[in-house]
Amino acid sequence: MTRVLVTGAGGLAGVNFVRALRASPRKHYIVGTDFNRFHILYPDVDARYPTPRHTDREFVPRVAEVVEREGIEFLHPQPSSEAYVVSSRGADIPCRTFLPPARVMRVGQDKLLTEKRLRAKGIPVARTYQLEGRQDVRAAFKELGAPLWARARHGAGGRLSLLCKDAAEASLWIDLWVRRGGDPYSEFILQEYLPGRNIAWDSIWRGGRLVTSYSRERLEYPFRHISPSGITGTPSVSRIVSDRRVDEVARRSVLAVDPRPNGAYSVDIKESADGRPCITEVDSGKFHSTMPLWGYIAVKHLGLPEYANLADLYVRLGMGEDLGEVPPETDLLPAGYYLLRDMDVGAYLWREDGFKLKVL
Ligand SMILES: Nc1ncnc2c1ncn2[C@@H]1O[C@H](COP(=O)(O)OP(=O)(O)O)[C@@H](O)[C@H]1O
Ligand SMILES: [Mg+2]
Repeated sequence: MTRVLVTGAGGLAGVNFVRALRASPRKHYIVGTDFNRFHILYPDVDARYPTPRHTDREFVPRVAEVVEREGIEFLHPQPSSEAYVVSSRGADIPCRTFLPPARVMRVGQDKLLTEKRLRAKGIPVARTYQLEGRQDVRAAFKELGAPLWARARHGAGGRLSLLCKDAAEASLWIDLWVRRGGDPYSEFILQEYLPGRNIAWDSIWRGGRLVTSYSRERLEYPFRHISPSGITGTPSVSRIVSDRRVDEVARRSVLAVDPRPNGAYSVDIKESADGRPCITEVDSGKFHSTMPLWGYIAVKHLGLPEYANLADLYVRLGMGEDLGEVPPETDLLPAGYYLLRDMDVGAYLWREDGFKLKVL
C-alpha cells in the first residue's frame, strides 16, 4: 500500500486519477486537497483537506503539512499550475514526486517559449507572431495572412483563444482582455490557424526513456456552442487513434523540451490544412484530464494488463518500482474506441460497429 496525496483532487482530472488508483489491486491510502470547498467533495479519498490556491504563499507549506500529518509517501499534483509550483519548491515537501525539473516545466507553461524551442529543433509548429503592442496586430495579419488563432501564452483550457478573421476582430478581442484582466499585449500571440485534426498524445517516461503512450483525437467539446472559441478544455467526444507520424513528432517534441524526460508528458497536436501534425503544447509533468480515465477503462473494461492503468503505473514508477510486464511504447490503447462523456449523462465506450458500454 502506498500513501498518496493528490492535489486538485476535486477537478475532473483529479477525480479520474483517484478513481483509477482505486481500481488498482494495490490498496492505496489516498488523500485529496483542493481550494474549492464544493469540488473537494467529489473524489473517493480517505481524507480531504482544503488548501489555498497555488499562487498563495501558503500553498506549499500547507501541502507539506498535509504530507507530514498523513505520512504521505508520494505526491501527485494534478493541475499543471500546482505541479509547477511543487517542482519549483519540491525540496520543501518531504515525500516522493515524479515530476520534471521546474526549468523544463517552465517551457510548457509558456506557449511562446514552447513554440520557439520546438521551432529551433525543427519540429513543426504554427507560424507565430509575438505581440508587443496594439500596432502589431495589423503587422501579424500582413505577415501570416488570415484567419489567425489568438491565444494567451499562459494558462490552460484554450485560455483567451479565438479564431479571428481579420485584424479588426483580433484587436477588439485582445483589447477587451487587456483592459479587463490587466494582461499586457505581450501575453498574447497570434498564430497561423491549424484547421485539421485535434489530437492528444499522452505519455509516461522514466529516466529519459519512453515507457508508454497512446493517441486520441478530440471530436467534440462540451458546451462548445456557447463558448467563443469552441474550446472548453476537455473533450466530450474523443477516440483512440494510431498514427506513426503523431508518435514520432510527439516523442521528438518531448525530447526537445527535456533531454531526459521523467514523469508524465501531455502533448497537444493540431494538423495543418495539408494534414501535417503541428505541436501546440508540450505539458510536462501533466496528466491530461481523461488520461487516468482511459487507463481505468483499459483495465476495467478492455481487459488490458495492469500496466495500462496509467495512474497506477505512474505511482509505481514514481515510487521506484520495477515493472514486471513491460508496456508497449506506443499505441497502449486499441484504436477505434470512442469515449462519450458529458455533464449528467455518464460516460460511454462506443465503437462504429455499434458496440456500446456504460463505463461511469
Ligand atoms: N494555432 C492553432 N490553430 C488552431 N487551433 C489551435 C491552435 N493552437 C491551439 N489550438 C486549439 O486550442 C486547443 C488548446 O490549446 P493547447 O495548445 O492545448 O493549450 P492549452 O490546453 O494549455 O489551452 C488545442 O487543442 C487546439 O484545438
Ligand atoms: Mg492543452
